[in-house]
Amino acid sequence: MFPKTNLYRKRKLYRTPGLCEQQLRCRFSSLPSPPPPGTWSQLHRLPHRDLYRLSVTDPDRFWGSAAVDRLRWMRPFHQVRDCDFSSGKINWFVGGKINVSVNCLDVHAENHPDRVALIWERDEPGTEVKVTYRELLETTCRLANTLKSHEIKKGDRVAIYMPVSPIAVAAMLACARIGAVHTMVFAGFSSEALAAKIQDAQCKAVITCNQGVRGGRLIHLKSTVDAAVRSCTSIQHIFVSQRTEQPVVMGELDVPLDEMMSQHASVCPPEPLDSEDSLFLLYTSGSTGKPKGIVHTQAGYLLYTSMTHQYVFDYRDGDVFGCVADVGWITGHSYVVYGPLCNGATTVLFESTPVYPDPGRYWEMVERLRINQFYSTPTALRLLLKYDDCWVKKYDRSSLRTLGSVGEPINHEAWHWFHSVVGEGRCPLVDTWWQTETGGICIAPHPLEEGAPIIPAMAMRPFFGIQPVLMGEKGETLTGDSVSGALCISQPWPGMARSIYGDHQRFIDAYFKVYHGYYFTGDGAHRSEDGYYQITGRMDDVINVSGHRLGTAEIEDALDEHPAVPETAVIGIPHDIKGEVPFAFVVLKEDVGDDPTAILQHLRGLVANKITKYAVPEHFLVVKRLPKTRSGKIMRRILRKVVLETTNDLGDVSTLDDPSVVKEIVETYDLKK
Ligand code: WT7
Repeated sequence: MFPKTNLYRKRKLYRTPGLCEQQLRCRFSSLPSPPPPGTWSQLHRLPHRDLYRLSVTDPDRFWGSAAVDRLRWMRPFHQVRDCDFSSGKINWFVGGKINVSVNCLDVHAENHPDRVALIWERDEPGTEVKVTYRELLETTCRLANTLKSHEIKKGDRVAIYMPVSPIAVAAMLACARIGAVHTMVFAGFSSEALAAKIQDAQCKAVITCNQGVRGGRLIHLKSTVDAAVRSCTSIQHIFVSQRTEQPVVMGELDVPLDEMMSQHASVCPPEPLDSEDSLFLLYTSGSTGKPKGIVHTQAGYLLYTSMTHQYVFDYRDGDVFGCVADVGWITGHSYVVYGPLCNGATTVLFESTPVYPDPGRYWEMVERLRINQFYSTPTALRLLLKYDDCWVKKYDRSSLRTLGSVGEPINHEAWHWFHSVVGEGRCPLVDTWWQTETGGICIAPHPLEEGAPIIPAMAMRPFFGIQPVLMGEKGETLTGDSVSGALCISQPWPGMARSIYGDHQRFIDAYFKVYHGYYFTGDGAHRSEDGYYQITGRMDDVINVSGHRLGTAEIEDALDEHPAVPETAVIGIPHDIKGEVPFAFVVLKEDVGDDPTAILQHLRGLVANKITKYAVPEHFLVVKRLPKTRSGKIMRRILRKVVLETTNDLGDVSTLDDPSVVKEIVETYDLKK
């Protein structure tokens, strides 16, 4: 019978005998019902145009049927979505209970236990390790039991500071199994950056390795964790796995992970989790100094990553999927771990660098592992295309079917080199646009109508359910084609972020207030005359160095810590391999003497220690003053024009407090050149 909620009691008709729950729901649209099982298997055969139309006109039917048929539920959901952008409310698959690790592991361990889940492409070529679905499930359960025996419970936050490895994947999935919330921190971040994230998330434990190995070099991870944890009172345990033979001195909080796991059972019952319980936090940069802990939840994220993984890359059952991203970034979460594993794929874990031991590394790996989809970044491609094509051509790339790019706008040279040299002109190349906040790919050339074109260096088409909108300078919606504006998305989709950890108001302010009721991406875009989207880059004070997002304010905060530095301004300037690099304008105190070399060296160290090496400005210019508005805001736009030598077109300078400062900076810059 029907549950006796107030709603049911108030409406007499619900008690009408003879109507089943399904019929009752149809009569009352306030209680939408998920589509019956089997619907997706019919729908997904529709031509792409019809499927896309359905995804935006009837999202409940589209996503509801996909969720019913593609995921294994512990309790069915009763409502597909309950969302309201203006209040930042985003709920998908309401009432459902699910466990992500079951969908990524148990389902496949039942159907094909000996299929390889992970190929760990270790730093030294030819030493790869294969892990089957059965083995990964067992390892995950042992790790989950180890966490449980150390009182890690549902809802607790666990930091993972590890390089790409099966144990890092098992750590993520073990958290998912018991309902703990993982927060991966890229293993290149400094101890201070790690500490800031642990403190913000109030993590109870850290999982790490003794050392990392990358490009033939050792990275001392455990000592970085020790330095970080000194200022983190919330940490109760540090789980240490051994990536190398090198022993580590074990302190009071340390737990030898591999040893513990061998003592625990290889079976662990999965925790039934609410669709909207948090799955993970991932910190990313915004336009203020404080990084934001982006919150992703269970069912919607899993459905969205698995569907984009399948459709955008043309993934087919049994393919070997090669995404070379680090698991510390969102690309690693969505397209190394969750999307591919949910689809039962064999996913490659790439531990090395594109040039180790030589610039043929990727293509030698493609040949050896028979990779079908290869997903990389423009920055790596720009680095590789500088070498002779023989580094590519000497390896057999006939296994490749789809090529992908992500992280920043891909330039034509890199696109064509990837497409024609690597892909021999026969593999579709998809430029995929998305963000940590979007959870998965939102704009990409695939899926497409049969025979539809892929235009070079363009993300092109919205994925199912994505409705891009371009906004003009006055906040008006730009209709028609051949227009450029701020890229927004008008309707919720299942993979999108749900909040900023501990600060829901900041989430609302950053994403839904700028253009009221729309999700604002922070990027600008152009809609071509054919209606395709081209991303033009960030519109805020965020820069993109080698595909890594950095807030200029974060770098400024680090520089400003120096006692001789009252004020700085950082901008991003173009770089032919890294895409962008930081350029710092520094004001020094008057009494520091004429030679700033030592101070600048100190400043480089400060940024490396507080953030990470790639955040260190490539250029410094010592100036007397910075251009400011009358209300005291630094006008970085003008600094950009100084460096790009376009000061004859300064734009609107009416708000500039003292226009002479521009001339002063131009002169200093010209002298330095
Ligand atoms: C920002 C998001 C998405 C995973 C990696 C980065 C830029 C990303 C593209 C692309 C042009 C792109 C945007 C976006 N970006 N992909 N294909 N074309 N720009 O994730 O660190 O959250 O950065 O990266 O500016 O806003 P992220």
